[in-house]
Amino acid sequence: MKKEQVVHCQFSVWYPIFKQHTIKSLILPLPQNVIEYLLDDGTLVVSGSDHIAQGTHINDSDAEEDIQWSDDETTTTVTAPEFPEFTAKVLEAVNALGGRVFPKLNWSSPRDANWIALNSSLQCQNLSEIFLLFKSSDFITHDLTEPFLHCNDQDSPDPNINYELVLRKWSELIPGGEFRCFVKENKLIAISQRDYTQYYPHILKQEESIVHAIQQFFSQHVQYKFLDEDFVLDVYRDSQGRVWLIDLNPFGEVTDSLLFSWEELTCSGEITQQQDGPAFRYTTSEVTVQPSPCLSYRIPRDFVDLSTGEDAYKLMDFLKLQKSQQEDHEDEEAPQ
Ligand SMILES: Nc1ncnc2c1ncn2[C@@H]1O[C@H](COP(=O)(O)OP(=O)(O)O)[C@@H](O)[C@H]1O
Ligand SMILES: [Mg+2]
Repeated sequence: MKKEQVVHCQFSVWYPIFKQHTIKSLILPLPQNVIEYLLDDGTLVVSGSDHIAQGTHINDSDAEEDIQWSDDETTTTVTAPEFPEFTAKVLEAVNALGGRVFPKLNWSSPRDANWIALNSSLQCQNLSEIFLLFKSSDFITHDLTEPFLHCNDQDSPDPNINYELVLRKWSELIPGGEFRCFVKENKLIAISQRDYTQYYPHILKQEESIVHAIQQFFSQHVQYKFLDEDFVLDVYRDSQGRVWLIDLNPFGEVTDSLLFSWEELTCSGEITQQQDGPAFRYTTSEVTVQPSPCLSYRIPRDFVDLSTGEDAYKLMDFLKLQKSQQEDHEDEEAPQ
């Protein structure tokens, strides 16, 4: 994989070519100060500029007596940096896309950070929500800091990248309809179920029509139209059988090869020698179900419950625990 191939797979490069076959999206250039903010670990996400409350104030008379739920003068108010102009542009774009968006940078979405979102989803309505996801995501940091990792032309200078915030209209995609297609020398050589951790009985039943629909889509709308002859295409087959382009990725290690291996997919592998149509792999039974690849990015279940507010008692326990730990700590530090 060459650096140039990575450059070609940026959203703003492929989107104009395949606009008619993908989800409506808007691209906003990321100002330099926003990039710096995203890379800075020490800063906060929540700013006063849009409607996420700062320092949530719970005032419930039924709450445990020994907890004082109030904002008093000991509450520290630390303000996050604000980007009024950019915030306004983002809000305008979000509204133009129907009020709910899926955010990305040039290549990646913050898929590894959805645990932190209040709704455990990548759906965003404003810049604070986008920042929270982006600042919690290793995939976003990868885009910003090492986009050319795994390229085999490391001696050549890194191409200049103009960072962009991509906002895509929110669409309820059913994971069982998503497939990853591997294209080598402009030939569709392999298709993998994208969410391979799950068994979807409909894939087994509709195997032939799925492959046929994807092949048709590829030959009519994609083949020879992209800037490279090797690339990886993510598609979605909707309930009417229509195929949509979801994403375009470099043909190489940075892209997850899912149910194939990169060894199989590159020239020496057996997959490339197949003549009659692409190889199609999917999870065929519950038995082969694998752990989710994002598992290592997840946090303990208790924290999910806390962040979604599903378990009020857990939240109280959590706060009590924090309070008692604080007190212990104060005792330890108290002069003898
Ligand atoms: N517009 C959208 N609305 C809702 N979900 C989306 C949208 N676009 C993508 N997704 C979901 O997010 C996943 C990752 O999207 P993708 O653009 O491929 O990002 P990445 O390159 O980071 O994997 C997709 O597999 C799909 O399930
Ligand atoms: Mg991708």
